[in-house]
Amino acid sequence: MTVLVLAGTTEARRLLAELVGRGIDVVASLAGRTSDALPLPCPTRVGGFGGVDGLVRELQERGITALVDATHPFADVMPRHARDAAALAGVPHVRLERPAWVPRDGDAWVEVDGVHEAARALPSHGNVLLALGRMELDAFRSLDGVTLVVRAVDEPPPGPWDAVVLGRGPFAYDDERALLAEHRIDTVVLRNSGGPSRLLDAARDAGARVVLITRPRRAESLPTVTDVGAAVDWVQRTQ
Ligand SMILES: NC(=O)c1ccc[n+]([C@@H]2O[C@H](COP(=O)([O-])OP(=O)(O)OC[C@H]3O[C@@H](n4cnc5c(N)ncnc54)[C@H](OP(=O)(O)O)[C@@H]3O)[C@@H](O)[C@H]2O)c1
Repeated sequence: MTVLVLAGTTEARRLLAELVGRGIDVVASLAGRTSDALPLPCPTRVGGFGGVDGLVRELQERGITALVDATHPFADVMPRHARDAAALAGVPHVRLERPAWVPRDGDAWVEVDGVHEAARALPSHGNVLLALGRMELDAFRSLDGVTLVVRAVDEPPPGPWDAVVLGRGPFAYDDERALLAEHRIDTVVLRNSGGPSRLLDAARDAGARVVLITRPRRAESLPTVTDVGAAVDWVQRTQ
């Protein structure tokens, strides 16, 4: 009985710790995008599988009895590959995906499909906070008239950024308010990743507009659980 967890998220890390703590035999998989990934509490393989066929082989060769896809809500390819490979190999499969944020009273979000639409949704002038990953910034390079402040985990590639604020979340509400105030931000751009974020609260209270990038649309729904406890229960039911 061995569980394969497709990782790369906080939820995956927490799920792995829970499964290991229950004595369940588990293997983690990372795409290998970051060189400084924190070690996981179980044997970990790194790198792509080589598409659906490669993942089917991996499931068979390792004798995997359950597959949990706990990749990021914005991972577009892996969730489909996981579903297809699990079906071909006859292995039970579930996706662990944290719920998306939903607007609360006082929120006036502009929801957009992707970074290019986000760039088009920006006002012609003002101070914009781009709370995005380095891969998403290219779409904002050619904007004129707006002041661009980037908040990112790692130093972004050079660009027309008026300021760069480095930091790894989660951030406290007061720090988010201070960031918005310091740069007189009137528009915030971020992705609907879900999970803990005080940036939306701070933006609401500061009267800043939010341009929210929606999650990838999936052609078919996937069997999904939304929290680690439910994923543990699901694994235990399959064993
Ligand atoms: N997208 C984001 O914003 C984001 C944010 C934080 C963390 N991450 C993590 O970064 C990784 C890559 O994200 P992505 O958006 O590039 O995914 P993706 O577009 O869904 O996947 C692209 C390819 O990367 C490989 N891959 C992805 N996740 C893998 C995993 N856990 N183990 C082994 N191979 C994996 C697969 O290659 P093959 O086809 O060769 O198997 C997949 O086809 C994921 O683990 C994800 O959880 C992503």
